[in-house]
Amino acid sequence: MFNLDSIVRKNIKDLKPYSSARDEYSGEAQVWIDANENPFDTGVNRYPDPHQYDLKKMVGSIKGVSPSCLFIGNGSDEIIDLLFRMVCQPGTSNAIVLPPTYGMYAVAAQINDVEVRKVFLTSSFEVDVSAVLRAIDANTRLIFICSPNNPTGTLVQSSTIEQIATSFGGIVVVDEAYADFVQQGGGAVELLARNPNIYVLQTLSKAWGLAGARIGIGVASPEIQRYMAKIKAPYNISSLNQQVAINSLEDMEGFKMKVELIMEERERLQKALSSFSCVVTVYPSDANFLLVKFKKVEEVFLHLKQNGIVARDRSGEKWCDGCVRITVGTPDENTYLLEVLNMYKKL
Ligand SMILES: Cc1ncc(COP(=O)(O)O)c(C=O)c1O
Repeated sequence: MFNLDSIVRKNIKDLKPYSSARDEYSGEAQVWIDANENPFDTGVNRYPDPHQYDLKKMVGSIKGVSPSCLFIGNGSDEIIDLLFRMVCQPGTSNAIVLPPTYGMYAVAAQINDVEVRKVFLTSSFEVDVSAVLRAIDANTRLIFICSPNNPTGTLVQSSTIEQIATSFGGIVVVDEAYADFVQQGGGAVELLARNPNIYVLQTLSKAWGLAGARIGIGVASPEIQRYMAKIKAPYNISSLNQQVAINSLEDMEGFKMKVELIMEERERLQKALSSFSCVVTVYPSDANFLLVKFKKVEEVFLHLKQNGIVARDRSGEKWCDGCVRITVGTPDENTYLLEVLNMYKKL
């Protein structure tokens, strides 16, 4: 059912990508006078590796995938945009999103003049598979499934993802930005061998603590990634950011320690918040945040703000009436949050 060449835009298939002299040269050169760079060393006077060879090798060994299955983006946000550019015809194609979810899918769709079809999650934040399948038509190119989902924190079962992927001729994008905080259960990378139309998005912005470096990771078949490489800007990841990412990925111990601490703190916050009388529900979360429903959300939000705490008001989203999304902070930050909410209880 899935045929990549039949959904990639014709102009992308026909595109002759930008090619530098360095792309066309393999070997050990002494003198580089091909790219109009400044010859004097500043640490960054040379253009970065456009293929991010070393970084991909490292990511590949950590994720257990071949570098040919990887794409590195300037954050996953860049990858989301490139997926639209690859398969969506502006003015004709449509994409399905499952709100409440990450807002950038719809924004990227609108930037690319692509219709957004919303299939809301059920009131218990589950994917309504039959409604998703009903929303697909001949012009549907992308379906975005966020797991764990932002802002609900819920994990989507692999069987649900596979059920959608096998019934769809376009690409199912599984956004796993928060995958490293999942308590139990494998991710969608395991599904790739059986489902060539799944595109897994991960990022170093969350568990790896590199939001400022903008390193998004796409995992998919080499066929899809070849098209992605064709349409990206040649030097989309700076050499500084490639190096920062490599340095961080070398510190697996530090990574594990921080993720464990965040997960412990998530549990502490979950328990403490659940006991507050101003709180209606603390939803279970497989991410580094909690969605919390308050009795009087506007009052609580203002109280937090007055005490220097910025959280994310999600009360305008479907099924999220009264909800604030709270990111798990450092132990001290979490203690301060609880103190401030305790003060509110007493007001
Ligand atoms: C679900 C989801 N995907 C992607 C991103 C953005 O990731 P990146 O920093 O890699 O662009 C976010 C950021 O909040 C997110 O919540």
